[in-house]
Amino acid sequence: MLMASSSTFYGFWMVLVFLLALGSIAPLAEARAFFVFGDSLVDSGNNNYLATTARADAPPYGIDYPGRRPTGRFSNGLNIPDLIAEQIGLSESPLPYMSPELNGQKLLVGANFASAGVGILNDTGVQFVNIIRMYGQLEYFQEYKRRLSVLVGSRQAHQLVSQALVLITVGGNDFVNNYYLVPYSARSRQYKLPEYIKFLISEYRRLLMRLYKLGARRVLVTGTGPMGCVPAELAMRGTNGGCSEELQRAASLYNPQLAQMLNGLNKNISRDVFISANTPKMHNDFVSDPRAFGFTTSQIACCGQGPYNGLGLCTQLSNLCPNRSLYAFWDPFHPSEKANRLIVQQIMTGSIEYMNPMNLTTIMALDSRI
Ligand SMILES: *[C@@H]1O[C@H](CO)[C@@H](O)[C@H](O)[C@H]1NC(C)=O
Ligand SMILES: *[C@@H]1O[C@H](CO)[C@@H](O)[C@H](O)[C@H]1NC(C)=O
Ligand SMILES: *[C@@H]1O[C@H](CO)[C@@H](O)[C@H](O)[C@H]1NC(C)=O
Ligand SMILES: *[C@@H]1O[C@H](CO)[C@@H](O)[C@H](O)[C@H]1NC(C)=O
Repeated sequence: MLMASSSTFYGFWMVLVFLLALGSIAPLAEARAFFVFGDSLVDSGNNNYLATTARADAPPYGIDYPGRRPTGRFSNGLNIPDLIAEQIGLSESPLPYMSPELNGQKLLVGANFASAGVGILNDTGVQFVNIIRMYGQLEYFQEYKRRLSVLVGSRQAHQLVSQALVLITVGGNDFVNNYYLVPYSARSRQYKLPEYIKFLISEYRRLLMRLYKLGARRVLVTGTGPMGCVPAELAMRGTNGGCSEELQRAASLYNPQLAQMLNGLNKNISRDVFISANTPKMHNDFVSDPRAFGFTTSQIACCGQGPYNGLGLCTQLSNLCPNRSLYAFWDPFHPSEKANRLIVQQIMTGSIEYMNPMNLTTIMALDSRI
């Protein structure tokens, strides 16, 4: 009697332990891989490994990151890829492709190929010298696929890539670090703004087709931020605290054409591969009414110097605000973690004006049924 009940009891615990073990493995296997391409808004540390001036590997970058350490993220804490990874159930963010730790099982999580300073065009960000331009990022993606195939076989590798989520954030630098970098830049002498934008969009389309051919099937594509309203531009070009009209005009021409191009691509390939994330609108919400989102300012950067803390780089010698959650901008160009959280919230649940044709919650539900 006593024997029987204790063995039943023992059996119950064995089953429970087994279920718990299953539970702790299952989410890892079920979360989809995540790949990231683009510029400093999404670079998680690739540039740390490159001889470039476009880097965020010294304090106070990372002051709110776990361990309070700089990692190469252009944020006080987490960046947009970190927060998306969290939302799709990954237990860790994909590592920078340049990281020597990206080996073995870590490859299954995905990889981050982004490199601060790059643009759609090869000639954007030349002043940063040694960065990984978009075609370079795609070449590394191919190399990644070969390494993954060695690990899990080519069929599994192909499946992992086609079921993955991809994020691509690029384009802002084609304005601020190319066309408008200096007066009479080569590109601004070559093209009037509307023609330059047409050229950018057609080059972006080529990049996205290449990504599609490499196997990507769910790709979040973000627009530019409010380029003319970032603290750097308020300091350099703004008029009486107003945004730079020229850069705002560029954004207002570029973003709708990007959305239209993505729409056209989806029509051509007859499926919703490319998802347009209206980051300009997301940013605009808190830039135009910072207090509604708990910010005391959307004009002054937390870290920097000069008017709006908008001049030069964020370094240990810069002004630094005590509470990063109260600032929409961490440095002269990049949002704070708090702002990144608001953006990712909209990516997850935004209505059609924010996420077209659908938000990430809907995508996750759709894809889990396949
Ligand atoms: C940029 O470089 C890639 C290869 O490095 C090339 O295929 C592409 O045509 C270049 N784009 C332009 C606009 O020159
Ligand atoms: C549409 O897609 C097909 C293949 O998917 C491609 O061959 C064709 O060039 C594309 N058309 C346009 C206008 O891009
Ligand atoms: C920073 O501000 C946020 C938002 O108002 C607040 O919740 C938090 O307690 C503040 N943190 C510190 C350390 O004062
Ligand atoms: C996502 O988008 C759909 C369709 O636009 C909308 O109905 C839904 O409320 C949004 N939010 C969530 C959490 O799905």
